[in-house]
Amino acid sequence: MTPDHRDLGRALESAREETDRLFGLVRPDSFYERPIPERHRILFYVGHLEAFDWNLIGRYALDVPSFHAAFDQLFAFGIDPPPGRLPEDKPSDWPSIAELDRYNQRVRDEIDNRLDEVPTQLLHVAIEHRLMHAETFAYILHNMPHERKVAPVSDTHAAGREHSSRMIDIPAGAARLGLAGEETFGWDNEFQAHSVEVPAFSLGKYKVTNGEYLELVRAGAYAPFFWIERGGRWFYRGMFSEIPLPLDWPVYVTHGQAAEFAKWRGMRLPTEAEFHRAASHAAPSANLDFRRWEPAPVNADDRGNGADGPVQLTGNGWEWTSTLFAPFPGFQPFPLYKNYSQPFFDGQHFVLKGGSPRTAARLARPSFRNWFRPQYPYVYAAFRLVES
Ligand SMILES: [Fe+2]
Repeated sequence: MTPDHRDLGRALESAREETDRLFGLVRPDSFYERPIPERHRILFYVGHLEAFDWNLIGRYALDVPSFHAAFDQLFAFGIDPPPGRLPEDKPSDWPSIAELDRYNQRVRDEIDNRLDEVPTQLLHVAIEHRLMHAETFAYILHNMPHERKVAPVSDTHAAGREHSSRMIDIPAGAARLGLAGEETFGWDNEFQAHSVEVPAFSLGKYKVTNGEYLELVRAGAYAPFFWIERGGRWFYRGMFSEIPLPLDWPVYVTHGQAAEFAKWRGMRLPTEAEFHRAASHAAPSANLDFRRWEPAPVNADDRGNGADGPVQLTGNGWEWTSTLFAPFPGFQPFPLYKNYSQPFFDGQHFVLKGGSPRTAARLARPSFRNWFRPQYPYVYAAFRLVES
């Protein structure tokens, strides 16, 4: 086995541990629940991660005959329906957990036994696909009632220090986007590398906070999806508990709400190129890579030396941009996974950059692009303001 294969085998194993841990948080009687109406039932994800690896690696790369063709197909694809077109399957359309566990174990064994024959690019795909689901599955879990989950340990909430929001001037210049040829592994939408000239602008040093957004809600706007009002007080609906709204955490909102807030302040959201221009020298937040379940205060990463660049551009919450998800010049769909990006170049999805507390470190590379529909409310997505 090559050193590359050994490292990727270990990365696949630790990604499996992460997703196994997540499924372990679901109470045994809750696997047929559908916490997000626009997504599959929980059980689907338990089968999907292995079926995906199997279809790509076992069936395609290793050419092993199928041992359960119905599952290979049933668990092959997730869903992203347009508004108003919700799935209508019933729990009885799905197999038992025990049967699925047997399928999953066999898939892992077959792949692990012949790992050295798998092209390294496909191992990257399997690892990153799984890690992306580790995040989007957290959104699903987040939306499941607390009593249906097993809380791991008490998640302590970071307390913030005083801070004041201010704007940072970013001079005109070139933003470098995308990945060059053989630089490293990347998804099809990250290619090709190119530069974009960006005029001068100023950008919020911090992400917009719950406290700032509360002013807009008090002025009559709808509250963010993660908030709930009880007896005239606002609470944050966390993964495992409800807590008084932390005013210094980034606010998680839809693209529509982010744009509304920016307009109300006489500003706007950054473009994808502006984000790159601002982020080129910024250090990632410590709140990344599954360390915490919830956000930290927007100034939690300040080093106390009055550092004057924008902070937390990576980590502690994705950031919405005003850029519609579209191919870079020279885009070629990844031949073995043609539908990774292409179906979403539909003018209905916006680019998000950075990463959240539940984003794996390896997905926080500068070229990584995330995308969601503008009204999809379940994402750990924050934003910051731009003025030009
Ligand atoms: Fe998937």
